[in-house]
Amino acid sequence: MTSAAAQTPIDIVAERVAEAADLVTVALDQLLPRADGPEQRLTEAMRYAALGPGKRLRPFFAMESARLFDVEERPVLRAACALECIHAYSLVHDDLPSMDDDDMRRGRPTVHKQYDEATAVLVGDALQSAAFEIMAHPDTHEDPSVRAELVRKLAIASGARGMAGGQMIDLLGVREDLGGVARMQRLKTGALIAFAFEIPLIVADADDGERSALMMFANDLGLAYQIVDDLLDVEGDEDLLGKAAKGKDAAKGKANFVTLLGVDAAKERVGVLAEQARRHLDLFGEDAKFLRASVDFVLQRRS
Ligand code: IPE
Ligand code: IPE
Ligand code: MG
Ligand code: MG
Ligand code: MG
Repeated sequence: MTSAAAQTPIDIVAERVAEAADLVTVALDQLLPRADGPEQRLTEAMRYAALGPGKRLRPFFAMESARLFDVEERPVLRAACALECIHAYSLVHDDLPSMDDDDMRRGRPTVHKQYDEATAVLVGDALQSAAFEIMAHPDTHEDPSVRAELVRKLAIASGARGMAGGQMIDLLGVREDLGGVARMQRLKTGALIAFAFEIPLIVADADDGERSALMMFANDLGLAYQIVDDLLDVEGDEDLLGKAAKGKDAAKGKANFVTLLGVDAAKERVGVLAEQARRHLDLFGEDAKFLRASVDFVLQRRS
């Protein structure tokens, strides 16, 4: 018999990830547009992309870090839905033939395989618009200045100084030094992950100490997360991952920590980043117990 006392912090994190995933999937289902006319093809494809079986880790990060502050659930949940729309759009475009040219995502055909390429481009466009529509809506927060700050920070995290800029560097495959690769990964993946932690900081109007501790945590975690993704590209099980692996990045001439440093040194770096990340949470004491445990949970992922 399993009692609540026998649960480890990682078990509890697993439960909380599942709860956050359910909440966000139900909310997104309500928030995403439905159409009756010929544009129904687009709204269906948007739903296919955004409601598919993703891990919803970014929403989990937002909701878990919100527990450190005295904030309402609704603004955080809506902002997390907006973030997940941007993330889903980034994956749809990332998989396009002109980018990574992938056929499988989340265990199913990618959007351009299931529909077609033009539809996949429009799905990305419309998911991006949906994100900002959700964020800017008065239901997200009663204070327009809070909404404006959420919109502004999400725009920065997803644009040329964030995800899209990082994707550009990734596509160029510039084989720079480790600093250059770290910068690429920070933009490509780190910026959206960091935004998840920005959400409660903005909603709670957190102080500078809390802000810098949580942002440093987010930066280390985001970088470690992408290195693990790159390791899984080499060592992962395609069935569990639901996407292509088998050293696809190296075969495409991608520069990342694994192609640059090799598997062992990349793993070592993940360990150092994880330890560093956990230490940034010292300021929050016991309150951050499960956020600390979530570092191990997300970095031990196989899917
Ligand atoms: C995949 O992100 C792309 C990266 C930035 C590494 P996730 O691993 O969070 O993908 P889903 O949302 O669970 O499919
Ligand atoms: C994708 O990085 C990051 C973004 C979509 C912004 P990858 O290209 O490594 O992600 P996967 O491996 O296809 O999920
Ligand atoms: Mg890519
Ligand atoms: Mg890819
Ligand atoms: Mg990858």
